[in-house]
Amino acid sequence: MVLGNFFSNICSNLLWLLKACTFSIKRRDNENEGKTLTLTNLPEDVTIDILMRLPVKSLCCLECVSKTSLNIVGSPQFAAQHTRRLLNSSSAVEVPQLMLLARYSNLQHCAINLQSLKYNGTSCSTKTNFADIVFMNDWYRYEVEFVFSNLFGISRRLSVNRELCYLVNPLRGEVLELPRSDVKAPNYNGYDPCIHDRYGMGFDHVSSTYKIVHISEYAYEISSDIAARVYAMGTRSWRPIQSVPLCHFSNKSVYAYGDRHWLVEGDKSPNNFIVSFDFRKDEFYWTHHPDLQASSSHRFWYDFHLLNLKGSLAIMDYCSYPEEYIKIWVLKNYDKKEWALDYTINMKTFVGRPRGTLLKWGEWENGIFTIQSGVCYFVDLRRGSMKGVKLPPSIMNYNLWTAEQYEQSIFSYTGSMVSLKNYGNLIEAARPGMWFLQ
Ligand SMILES: *[C@@H]1O[C@H](CO)[C@@H](O)[C@H](O)[C@H]1NC(C)=O
Ligand SMILES: *[C@@H]1O[C@H](CO)[C@@H](O)[C@H](O)[C@H]1NC(C)=O
Ligand SMILES: *[C@@H]1O[C@H](CO)[C@@H](O)[C@H](O)[C@H]1NC(C)=O
Repeated sequence: MVLGNFFSNICSNLLWLLKACTFSIKRRDNENEGKTLTLTNLPEDVTIDILMRLPVKSLCCLECVSKTSLNIVGSPQFAAQHTRRLLNSSSAVEVPQLMLLARYSNLQHCAINLQSLKYNGTSCSTKTNFADIVFMNDWYRYEVEFVFSNLFGISRRLSVNRELCYLVNPLRGEVLELPRSDVKAPNYNGYDPCIHDRYGMGFDHVSSTYKIVHISEYAYEISSDIAARVYAMGTRSWRPIQSVPLCHFSNKSVYAYGDRHWLVEGDKSPNNFIVSFDFRKDEFYWTHHPDLQASSSHRFWYDFHLLNLKGSLAIMDYCSYPEEYIKIWVLKNYDKKEWALDYTINMKTFVGRPRGTLLKWGEWENGIFTIQSGVCYFVDLRRGSMKGVKLPPSIMNYNLWTAEQYEQSIFSYTGSMVSLKNYGNLIEAARPGMWFLQ
C-alpha cells in the first residue's frame, strides 16, 4: 500500500518532470527533440517497472510527450508485460469504462458506431466518436463476440465456409481482419450445418501471446458436432483443438485470469455451467461454480450472467419473477475455486426498475449495469442503489442511407497498451474513424 503510493507519487512526478522538460526543450529548440530527457537516466528495467505501475491513461499521455517513452510503452513487449501485470495483481486492475455501440441497418448495409460513454452519477453523455464501421452489402449478420481489454472482436458470417473475424481497437483507430479460420464446416444436404460460431480472446502469460479461440457448433438431423481452433496473434493460421466439450456455448462470455469463460446454454447439470478456455495449454476445462439452483426454483440459463468484478470472475443470478433479486457470487480463490455470495440485492426496493428478462449485464466503475428500452440502469454495488439513465443518441458520421433499424447497447472495456499494427496489416480507414468492410 505504502509502496504503491510511493510509486504513484514517483510516477506522477516523473510524468510532470517529463512534460516540463519536453515543454522547455520544445520551446527553446525544436531540433533538440531527439535529445529529450530519457525518463531521467534510470536503468531501463527500473524505468519499465515504474511505467508498468501507471494507469493506461497516463501511459498514453507519455506516448505523446517523448519519443523515448514512446519507444518503450509503444512496444509489443511492453504491452504484453502490462497485460501480464493486470492479470496478477488486483491493485493494478483498470477501472471499467463504457462504450456505447449503435447498430444501424437497412436491407443493403449494416453499420456500427462506437462512442465512449461517460456516466457521472446522474446522467450519461457521449464523448469521443471512435469508429464508424460500415459492412457493405450486408445485413445484420455480424456479432460483437467479445471484448478483450479495449479490443472488440466482431464476427461476420457471409455464407457457408465464409466466416470472418475482425479485431477493432477503437482507442487507436485500428481494424484488423484475422486470417480465415481454415477448418471447413462439414456440409450436409446443401444447407449450412453451422448453427453458430463463438469467438473468445485471452492471453497466454507464459509465452506473452494474445490468442483467439473460434468455436463452431454444427447441427444435423439427429446429431450435433462441435469444433474449435485457436489463433495466436501475429501468426498466419488457426490450429485445431483436439478436444472440445459438446455443449452449447452461449453468447455470454467474460475474460478473467487470462482465460475466457462462457456460460453454457440450457444445461441442466448444475456442475457444468461454466466452460472455460485455458490459453496457455490451449485446452477447454470446466470451471467449478456454486450451486445455483439451490436458492430458488425454476432458474434458467439465461437468468445467469458472467461478470469480471475487479479482476475476479463472478456469476450473477437475475430473477424477475415472482421474486425480484440480484445475487452475485464472486470467485475468491481461483486455485481452490472458492466462491462467495457477495451481493444479494432486492430489486423491489428500486423505484422505476427494469422489468422482465434482461439479457445483457456489464460492469461499470462502481457496479453493474443493464439496458432496457433506451435506458441504462446502473446498480451501485457499494451502496446497493440503482439509477435509470436515458441514453444519449448515437450520431454516426456515415449517413448516406436511412436506417430501418437502430439499436444501442453498451459494452465495458478496460485500457490496454495493445496495438493491432504489430499483428498484421490493418484495414485502412476510408476517412479518419470510418471503415468500409466489403
Ligand atoms: C502470478 O503470481 C504468481 C506468484 O506470485 C505466479 O506463480 C504466477 O505465475 C503469476 N501469474 C501470472 C499470470 O503472471
Ligand atoms: C452530470 O452531468 C449533467 C449534464 O452535464 C449535469 O447536469 C450534472 O450536474 C452532472 N452531475 C454530477 C454529479 O456531476
Ligand atoms: C444472445 O443469445 C440470445 C439467445 O440465445 C439472444 O436472444 C440474444 O439476442 C443474443 N445476444 C447477442 C448480443 O447476440
